[in-house]
Amino acid sequence: MYNAKITATAYHVPEKVISNHDLEKILDTSDEWIRTRTGIRERHMAAKGEATSDLAAAATRKLLVQRGISASEIDCIIVATVTPDMLFPSTACVLQEKIGACNAWGFDLSGACTGFIFALATASQFLHSGAYRKVLVIGADVMTSILNPADRNTYVLFGDAAGAALLEPTEPGEEGIIDFLLRCDGSGGKYLYMPAGGSLRPATTKTVDENMHFVHQDGRAVFKFAVQGMADISCELLNRHHIEASQLALYVPHQANLRIIDAAVERLGLDSSKVVRNIDRFANTTAATIPVGIAEAYEQKRIQKGDTILIASFGAGFTSGSLLFRWSM
Ligand code: ACO
Repeated sequence: MYNAKITATAYHVPEKVISNHDLEKILDTSDEWIRTRTGIRERHMAAKGEATSDLAAAATRKLLVQRGISASEIDCIIVATVTPDMLFPSTACVLQEKIGACNAWGFDLSGACTGFIFALATASQFLHSGAYRKVLVIGADVMTSILNPADRNTYVLFGDAAGAALLEPTEPGEEGIIDFLLRCDGSGGKYLYMPAGGSLRPATTKTVDENMHFVHQDGRAVFKFAVQGMADISCELLNRHHIEASQLALYVPHQANLRIIDAAVERLGLDSSKVVRNIDRFANTTAATIPVGIAEAYEQKRIQKGDTILIASFGAGFTSGSLLFRWSM
């Protein structure tokens, strides 16, 4: 049986940057409120017509150059997203065509902020079984396409980005992905969702008039569950393997709110220098936060071969997940 390891990682953000001061001009909000409540200073925003598959394709092209392979070598593509280009065909199909992955099949996975961890765990099983040798895992979202520009409760929190990771079989003696914990709690669905556009409430002029195609959130409730959920799922996985926080080289938490990250870091008793925090520049990019965090940390040489890394997330659903792995590059 093979294990799975990450052999390349890259990310892409759209060119346009929206600062908190830009938002002050269109919403009843302030840079001070956004910074102190969330840790966000600015976010990237897709241009009109720039879709999730475009961001994913740009990240993938960088990844292919880094790994020195052609897209035709990819066996399977998993795209974690809540903002697919369209309901169907899948964004994985759109991406397959855009990057010319002529030998790949693929599918989308809806796990909200935990989507990338769900996708990575799923992909690792294809490597375990020996079915495939190169699986492309994407976490990508154009959140600005489903935000109400008039809603200060949600509009200030999110940004657009894509992150990509290539999974391949480990060499003898290498560990790669060690373990993961994945959870769903559907009772939390009512706190964070997009009410219309699916089979329950198909699009009508009424659903559009009532802003039902935008993100609806009870921020305070989500915050409470997220603080507990992210810390729990992180601690449980480390405890299962008798790994002390001090043995981690890097912790890559989902970037939803700096206060949620800090609460998890405190519970773990982790040295702050080992934590990826980039929410100030990117805001919450949903499925993209973790692959962007990993790719940026690698780019900044914060991780070395053999390092133990923990990634963790909590999001709409509710979903939560953590994944422990040894860095292989
Ligand atoms: N600017 C100024 N004031 C605002 C803004 C804004 N953008 N948004 C809300 N307010 C106001 C509220 O109306 C409220 O006013 P009131 O007291 O007169 O009613 C006041 O600020 C305080 O609101 P709270 O909701 O108590 O503020 P809180 O400290 O909880 O922060 C926040 C709100 C940032 C949304 C926080 O609850 C949070 O981060 N929740 C998690 C939500 C999240 O990250 N979701 C993303 C997806 S899930 C995930 O990724 C984990």
